[in-house]
Amino acid sequence: MSEGGISIRVATAVGLGAIIGAGIFTLSGTAIALAGSWALLSFILVGLVAAVVALEIGELCTLFPKATGASYSYAYEAFGSELGFITGLLLYVSYASSVSVVALGFGSYLASLLGLKIATASYYFAIALIAALTLLNLRGIRKAAKADFVLVIVKLSILLAVVGFAAFYFLRSGSATSFLSGGAQAANIEGIFGASVAVFFAYSGFQAISTFVSEVKGGARSAAKAILSSVVISMVLYVLVAISLLILVPAVKFVINADPLSFALQTAGAPAYLLVAVDVGALVATASASLAILLGSSRILYQIGLDGLLPKAVRTYDAKRDVAKNGVFISGVIGVLMLFSGNIFVIAAISNFGLLFSYLIATFALVHFRRLGMKGSFSVPLYPYLPAAAMVAILAFMFGMPREALVFGVVLLLSLIIAYYFLREYRDEKPVKVRFFE
Ligand code: ALA
Repeated sequence: MSEGGISIRVATAVGLGAIIGAGIFTLSGTAIALAGSWALLSFILVGLVAAVVALEIGELCTLFPKATGASYSYAYEAFGSELGFITGLLLYVSYASSVSVVALGFGSYLASLLGLKIATASYYFAIALIAALTLLNLRGIRKAAKADFVLVIVKLSILLAVVGFAAFYFLRSGSATSFLSGGAQAANIEGIFGASVAVFFAYSGFQAISTFVSEVKGGARSAAKAILSSVVISMVLYVLVAISLLILVPAVKFVINADPLSFALQTAGAPAYLLVAVDVGALVATASASLAILLGSSRILYQIGLDGLLPKAVRTYDAKRDVAKNGVFISGVIGVLMLFSGNIFVIAAISNFGLLFSYLIATFALVHFRRLGMKGSFSVPLYPYLPAAAMVAILAFMFGMPREALVFGVVLLLSLIIAYYFLREYRDEKPVKVRFFE
């Protein structure tokens, strides 16, 4: 791999590219519909948890700058191939399902922009998007990253325009009735956990940066800063957008729909050009998120293959373009297949299980390395309190997930444990790190 071709700005943009997508443009309305104004608290709390995990991943990537497997690599280095295999595949399935959620968000926006009422249209558009982005990713990491940079500027500007309109609306009408009317509603714990599914999903994606640390100019410390900045910028933006939605429409009026930003703007009488801009912003955001997540997932798969835990086929690497070719292709295919596993909220919940699991293991890995006296050149402050708080929060969110997602996650986890031991018996290898495929 070549050294340092991607600036910290572009790396941050890839993080923002992966983070800001269907979560805010599609699922934010679901969060408010489920938890009322409490959804705002969810955006703040989950954002804080994501920021702590971002600090941890940042420290870990300064310890292992050559790893391209994100939290998979840290699990593998800390605990060996068993937990590595399980974490890696859960994280991979999580990313591959994210591609489906985000592409489906794109499909729904495009179908509604074109006035198509047929539900299947969203699926066709989602498949077309995944195919196009798979091809773009195959052209190489720098091209994909640069394309993401432009798309990120567009989506941030459009979200800021929504915030600006809400501020203007608030000053003009002088009321925040929605905060008051929604506050009393849906203060139940189930609603808040339900909202957190959408919100966790909205913050996911920052690990994508940790899959190309050695490509970032300035090395691992710059990559770590990019990871943290992307989460902090998204958190500020998400909180502002959530406040804006609650200013524009009383929380009790939100229903689960695919287009909450347009719904809020329309209800508040926003000008038509802003509505069109938001639709275009949603298309751009979901396209750029799919692009960055495809990129991240292909590299995770490649690293798992490189460590000998998956067959050779996932190990093909085009060094000239810095792209894990078969990884990209396989991620694209899985992204398409996952489209058919449920509606957008269910797929997001499925995706969250692997994500939360990977956050948990990354936290344990950090503690493990610190106990061995290994501290990164970028380090988590307030150690061990912040990682301890993150562990408690992640476990609470895992057990508070919707039942279907929890069941799916546990079944997948158990299947991976069985697969691991099956392969290990077959190889007859007992060391901590084994290679199943040569
Ligand atoms: N965080 C990404 C999104 O919201 C996956 O689309």
